Amino acid sequence: MSEPIRSFVAVSISEGARREISELLGRLRHDAGPAVRWVKPELMHLTLAFLGEVSQDFLESAKSQLSEVARRHQAFAMQLKGLGAFPIPSRARVVWIGTEQGKGDVCSLQADVVKALGSVGYQPERRSFSPHLTISRLRMPDDVSKAVAVQFATESFTIERVVLFRSVLAPAGPVYTVLAEFPLSPPSGP
Ligand code: 2AM
Repeated sequence: MSEPIRSFVAVSISEGARREISELLGRLRHDAGPAVRWVKPELMHLTLAFLGEVSQDFLESAKSQLSEVARRHQAFAMQLKGLGAFPIPSRARVVWIGTEQGKGDVCSLQADVVKALGSVGYQPERRSFSPHLTISRLRMPDDVSKAVAVQFATESFTIERVVLFRSVLAPAGPVYTVLAEFPLSPPSGP
């Protein structure tokens, strides 16, 4: 039998937004302690569903489901805005950037992805979906209230596809590769 593949479904952000986030990280790094692990901007994405270690057979079924889901949704505009932390800013483990424009669209896309994958055996997470882009993880919970109070927003960009990624965990950090991409339908006219 083939090796299980660690994978997840996500949407990618624009290069412009990536640059803007890199600049933000430069500012936040200044005040952060050594226990913070920063996500490399080139690896940043917004996760719709984490699949974990799955079989090649499952991935094939997942791909046909994702292709159908993508066809049912139109490309949409997104702007990332505001910082937050899980579980709470005063005892943060994860710091993230939230969504402003496009929040409803990405939630509806995620719900459809999870439902479609559920039909081929995916077990959805129990907690409700909160769209976010993780920028750092803390080895020990810490108070990041001051950091998350900064004003921040990216450019507005278009989400045009759903991406199925493979994740390989390595000592130097995860390596993500694109397994398949599923274009969303073109947006309808003005
Ligand atoms: P998150 O940290 O932003 O929630 C690839 O590992 C992606 O899948 C990560 O960016 C992570 O997004 C998401 N993910 C969700 N649940 C996960 C889990 N249990 N283990 C690892 N990654 C998970």
